[in-house]
Amino acid sequence: MKTASRPVAIITGAARGIGLAAVGRFVEAGYDIVAVDLPGAPFEDLPTLTEGGPSIETVNGDVSSDQDWARVISVCRDRFGRLDVLFNNAGIEGALGSMLDYPLAEFDRVMAINVRGVFLGMRHAVELMRETGGGSIINNASNMGVKGSANIIGYSASKHAVVGLTRSAAIELAPTIRVNAVCPSPTNTRMMWDMHDRVAADTTDDEFERAFTATTPMGRFAEADEIAEAALFLAGSGASFITGAILPVDGGNTAG
Ligand SMILES: NC(=O)c1ccc[n+]([C@@H]2O[C@H](COP(=O)([O-])OP(=O)(O)OC[C@H]3O[C@@H](n4cnc5c(N)ncnc54)[C@H](O)[C@@H]3O)[C@@H](O)[C@H]2O)c1
Repeated sequence: MKTASRPVAIITGAARGIGLAAVGRFVEAGYDIVAVDLPGAPFEDLPTLTEGGPSIETVNGDVSSDQDWARVISVCRDRFGRLDVLFNNAGIEGALGSMLDYPLAEFDRVMAINVRGVFLGMRHAVELMRETGGGSIINNASNMGVKGSANIIGYSASKHAVVGLTRSAAIELAPTIRVNAVCPSPTNTRMMWDMHDRVAADTTDDEFERAFTATTPMGRFAEADEIAEAALFLAGSGASFITGAILPVDGGNTAG
């Protein structure tokens, strides 16, 4: 084991979307990265590294698996010897449609990845973070974690649970580990465009974005980089007295 001179961040769901954007921003900010995503995930989009700069260790794992989390932490410990930041970002949208037809197995899958995955990540991160002086955990919730919505009940319930996990862990882990959540509104990633294809394929991209942002004062989807930037802020010393915060990154969507 070596102890890295740089801060180290574990980022889940790192192969695509918001996780991939976060890897880019954290590398730019000087973090070594443990990038976690499912087996077979396309890690080829990870940023190109410069010699002598931060490095990225990739790990294939499922965030809903206790054993996979143990492996992620052991890779982080062996490779970098410390842990400063955990961005619990991996998540899925699950089934779309009425709660009356919502498949039970899908409800359990959404809960396993979005809720148990975040819980396990936090629990596994604590020991190594404490050993190396404390740290910061950022959980990716959603605007659907603070308000309800028709036809996406499993996802919304899971993201409300992420808010609860964040607040409870913040109280228990203070003062050495800060725990906060970001709550993005619809963001320009696979997740939204798959939803377009699944439930609104007859609308244009513009019509779809307008429909999903009609109640967002800033009137557009977020970009993945904008969520990554908020996570980077919560990770760093600029947020040194912020814990238990549920930060909207939503163009005002939840302001009204
Ligand atoms: N895109 C949005 O509109 C939006 C809005 C609010 C919140 N979020 C949240 O942001 C997070 C990232 O979403 P995104 O839009 O980047 O989605 P995405 O689908 O583009 O990327 C998610 C990544 O997570 C990985 N992943 C999925 N299940 C996993 C598992 N069990 N273990 C490990 N990795 C897994 C996927 O392989 C993928 O690479 C999610 O938690 C999502 O709920 C997204």
